[in-house]
Amino acid sequence: MARILLAGGAGYIGSHTAVELLNAGHDVIVVDNYSNSSPESLRRVEQITGKQIKQYEADIRNHEKLTAIFRENKIDAVIHFAGLKAVGESVQKPVSYYRNNIDTTLTLLEVMQECDVKKIIFSSSATVYGEENPVPYVETMKRGVCTNPYGWTKAMIEQILEDAAKANPSLSVILLRYFNPIGAHESGMIGEDPMGIPNNLMPYVTQVAVGKRECLTIFGNDYPTKDGTCLRDYIHVVDLAKGHVKAITYILDHCCNEIINLGTGTPYSVTEIVETFEAVNHIRVNHVYGERRAGDLPACYANADKAHTMLGWKTEKTLADMCRDSWNWQKNNPNGYNSKS
Ligand code: NAD
Ligand code: UFG
Repeated sequence: MARILLAGGAGYIGSHTAVELLNAGHDVIVVDNYSNSSPESLRRVEQITGKQIKQYEADIRNHEKLTAIFRENKIDAVIHFAGLKAVGESVQKPVSYYRNNIDTTLTLLEVMQECDVKKIIFSSSATVYGEENPVPYVETMKRGVCTNPYGWTKAMIEQILEDAAKANPSLSVILLRYFNPIGAHESGMIGEDPMGIPNNLMPYVTQVAVGKRECLTIFGNDYPTKDGTCLRDYIHVVDLAKGHVKAITYILDHCCNEIINLGTGTPYSVTEIVETFEAVNHIRVNHVYGERRAGDLPACYANADKAHTMLGWKTEKTLADMCRDSWNWQKNNPNGYNSKS
């Protein structure tokens, strides 16, 4: 069993990963500045698992604080979730995105080197495949041209980590490229809690269903797909979290430098998401078809073979599970972590 530091571990994916790591018997240390999360998520993780998390409120870019945290805990591996992630906002505030996302990574790498920690897993994104590569995306494809600063931070961080691993063969790196995480823990106690108007599809759908927003706009129905709406590889966040546990097991046992897709390999359209959500939860989601959203690709989905062969990981949850669990979280917590559990 190992001691895993989760940078940005109070967020949506980090909190679900914390549950699965604790359930697998690992010790979890979270460092988060709560810029897009709340310590309440970690309190609930402790409630779900009956185990404790060592928590630090700190900015990962604070070299001194981070060094003290690493010195206080004997860290075996780091999972780096910390970053700003809103695509549209990254176009408005590119400098903040580059500053936060790149600097968190550089500071982590420096402190890891100083404290002799040699294993890091990074939250990358399918967005790095760009628009040039054909679907399904395979890890051997070259990174493409990103359409926004958020995507570029992911591509740049991948490059930084690859260069660091090349220069220091004792450093192990796994770049996990997530596709579209949705859903929530089946307890309904933790889930995605976006600030303000959601950018992503599923939180928008659940907020319309719960009456917080009036109507979902489906961005474009004239794409060259089966029903004209975009195709994405939606993955249940609990499956995604279990993928991190497998990646931790792998990186602890191997000296490696790997890229691994975490997706299901099965694309669904926006209309299918809305229809499945309505059918599974017996609730209507008011929606209209509108203009295409700038930067959206018609289709984005994984070839998920490598995660299976290398990590022995496969998704287990269905689209119905994803829709049911997203709604369960939203209806129990209409105001996210600000409402009572
Ligand atoms: P999230 O915003 O819920 O979690 C990120 C966490 O990092 C938050 O708790 C935030 O407070 C923290 N953070 C940000 N900057 C920090 C800093 N400088 N110091 C300390 N903490 C900081 O996002 P998420 O959905 O859980 O995503 C986790 C990671 O996965 C991100 O890097 C994101 O870009 C990546 N990713 C997410 C998706 C998705 O659709 N959710 C898809 C692909 C990749
Ligand atoms: N969509 C709508 N209406 C909405 C929101 C989204 O129709 O109100 C559609 C989008 O047009 C897209 C699909 O739903 O076709 C999914 O959109 P999301 O914003 O949920 O997700 P994206 O695929 O655009 O982006 C996600 C992550 C990014 C990541 C990218 C990688 O949010 O961080 O996947 O492929 F970079």
